[in-house]
Amino acid sequence: MRVSWGLLAFPAAASAIENGINGWLRYAPLPNNERPPNLRLPGAIMALSTNKTSPVYTAGQELQAGIKGILNQTLPLYHEPDEWLGSTILVATTGEFHGGKPAATLADDGYLLHVRPGNVVILGQTERGALYGAFDYLSRIAQGRFSDADLIANPDAPIRWVNQWDNMDGSIERGYAGASIFFRNNTIPKDLNRVSQYARLLASIGINGIVVNNVNANANLLTDANIDGLGRIADAMRPYGVQIGISLNFASPQTLGGLSTFDPLDRSVISWWTDKTNRLYRRIPDMAGYLVKANSEGQAGPLTYNRTLADGANLFAKAVQPHGGIVMFRAFVYDNHINPADLKADRAKHAVEFFKGLDGQFLDNVVVQIKYGPIDFQVREPASPLFANIPQTNTAIELQITQEYLGQQSHLVYLAPLWETILNFDLRADDQPSLVRDVVAGHRFSNKRGGYAGVVNVGTNTTWLGSHLAMSNLYAYGRLAWNPNQDPQALLEDWTRLTFGSDPLVLGVVTEISMASWPAYENYTGNFGIQTLTDILYTHYGPNPASQDNNGWGQWTRADHNGIGMDRTVSTGTGFSGQYPAEVAEKFESIETTPDDLLLWFHHVNYTHVLKSGKSVIQHFYDAHYAGAETAQTFPIAWESLRNKIDTERFNDVLFRLRYQAGHSIVWRDSICQFYYNLSGIPDSTGRVGKHEYRIEAEAMALKNYKLTGVNPVETASNLTAVVLVSNHTSGEATTKLNFDSGKYDVTINYFDLIGGKAHYKAFLNGKLLLEWAGDLEDKLGHTFSTKLDGHSATRVTIRDVQIQKGDVLKITGVADGNELAPLDYIAVLPQGVVD
Ligand code: GCU
Repeated sequence: MRVSWGLLAFPAAASAIENGINGWLRYAPLPNNERPPNLRLPGAIMALSTNKTSPVYTAGQELQAGIKGILNQTLPLYHEPDEWLGSTILVATTGEFHGGKPAATLADDGYLLHVRPGNVVILGQTERGALYGAFDYLSRIAQGRFSDADLIANPDAPIRWVNQWDNMDGSIERGYAGASIFFRNNTIPKDLNRVSQYARLLASIGINGIVVNNVNANANLLTDANIDGLGRIADAMRPYGVQIGISLNFASPQTLGGLSTFDPLDRSVISWWTDKTNRLYRRIPDMAGYLVKANSEGQAGPLTYNRTLADGANLFAKAVQPHGGIVMFRAFVYDNHINPADLKADRAKHAVEFFKGLDGQFLDNVVVQIKYGPIDFQVREPASPLFANIPQTNTAIELQITQEYLGQQSHLVYLAPLWETILNFDLRADDQPSLVRDVVAGHRFSNKRGGYAGVVNVGTNTTWLGSHLAMSNLYAYGRLAWNPNQDPQALLEDWTRLTFGSDPLVLGVVTEISMASWPAYENYTGNFGIQTLTDILYTHYGPNPASQDNNGWGQWTRADHNGIGMDRTVSTGTGFSGQYPAEVAEKFESIETTPDDLLLWFHHVNYTHVLKSGKSVIQHFYDAHYAGAETAQTFPIAWESLRNKIDTERFNDVLFRLRYQAGHSIVWRDSICQFYYNLSGIPDSTGRVGKHEYRIEAEAMALKNYKLTGVNPVETASNLTAVVLVSNHTSGEATTKLNFDSGKYDVTINYFDLIGGKAHYKAFLNGKLLLEWAGDLEDKLGHTFSTKLDGHSATRVTIRDVQIQKGDVLKITGVADGNELAPLDYIAVLPQGVVD
């Protein structure tokens, strides 16, 4: 008899320190009042597989660990039917259970769940389907849901993958949570424990594939030693049913293989790829396939040899076809040297221009992977028209969990509502309902393959994404890829109960701030489809609207003294709107029928243009930025109400980030409002922009060892000026008298925190220390954003409830460190309730 008692792969209960490592799979003890008084669990777990790499085997272990953690009951675990004759939680494939017959009602990876007191049956169509069913059952009991259940759950789409943009040197492109868990020093590390743990999280939300390396791929991944390393990664993920894939560098036959060409139709190139592919499959027989970024942003591709993108994709498709693999071929192909003076030029049109004529030419194991919008993961974009233009081609949607243009995990932005907007976008192909989600699942155009690719970029940080709250995005991504019909708020609530428990106050606060976060972020970054007004030439984080125009990248806003927005109409503009099927094209062609939230995506209008709301565009810009920043101020306050309801570690970490976000939202608000005020010359009708009655500029303070400096872009410093120490081995002071009425105030200090130093600051009131801090956001947020004084590095600290008498003296001292010259921008002395 083989029975295992508590031989668990991962810690059963929530670890003593809540560092985030178990994500939503904490299996924290369920409080007594959330358990049914007469709870009757079966006497044992029966997982019908003796193969330790089978997800069914894993399901047994997971059930044992989960029940131990949540209910403190240790159930014995068996793997053969005759080992236990009592009541069970049975987990198996349908084939194993019914003597070889799959269940007609279940799709691949689908599962059936039957729950009764003392009897639970979990059957998967595939082995990983059984594991998905076990995770569903555990999620129910972890949330205190013990009711009887009879359900069948089938995934909407077969491809539910994640992408990692990990480089072989261990860095991660657009990763905000530390180094790679897959690569280190150009090789694959020995210890792949974190890789297994990641697979566990992914399996629990139905993810079945992962591409482990950056789309900007390094050809050296294909050396024999690295192929073996990839094999070890696949071994670590296999027990969770997560198959691995890899990104390829198109030029590899030349750069790695030493051939004179990488022409996809050249025989030597074809046999080079065939050989590499065969080697890979010898080591990883269940490899999912390839991901290819070709002829995009400087990457090599078939166009170099006047071959088509389909020729390029099919080269790989033929190589993986005998092994059952697929090729995800990215549609992110555009010319990044277009002429801004050409009013017809438009990067948004490129994907359709490159791919439409190729429809029907891709082999059937090719899937074209399309970013959700035509540009690049912006805060608001229309759905890419490509989804409607290649009906004979398998497609998948690419979403971004890592928040490249959406706050880089230092701002809370719950993304599921954004994704829902895109997935429910009706393209009206042939005047028929054509929701994006039905296109990518293959339903709309009867395609065999299709689905989802989410760019995640977890790193070694124990929180995975660098922020506890950002994990709701990964959770929601997997659940939506499984069933895009689910309500983003309901998914968030599930995640919250699993992550923080079921206290109604906790649930209420996390729901409230998360659901408010995308609208708030859109308000204080970029409105009406103008895109995230960030610095597109540098780090994609803080404000810099001017960076978007007058360069070849085509992420343009066309802002000038009179107006703003891209005219993408057919009649007078770039013609982009004509890429949509007729009904949608017609709607976007006219300003009257274009919804306000996409107005500036499709039209160039004067700042004085009056919106459907009755406001002018410029006044809406001002108002939205003030409203967004004001909402962000409420996040830390709401979170603070949970002080004794959440463990100290997570409580403090989240509080720090929400306070940081509240401060940075003011940087965004002021920079954007000032920029458009400078450009348009139209004042804010309520007089807020550029006028800050509670601020004292650093340059107006009495300065010792400090000098004035400009910043770039200018509008990212209050009054367009900041101060820095005169040299990098010195300290200095900025002092001011406070001529405010006596009373209680919040004192904020705005400064800049740069890469390359940790300056030290102290604030004194009448010589008494109020606060001491360092420019060490790199430690606290896990990364810093910029080497310069700009909208990325601008930040603030707030000292609450300071009793001030008229005439008190406030002094700030700064000590330089490295290239951080203790920069200061301004202080604000805010009466209770005032946001500025
Ligand atoms: C964005 C991103 C790049 C990435 C590219 C891609 O432009 O900033 O880092 O390589 O998208 O998706 O290929």
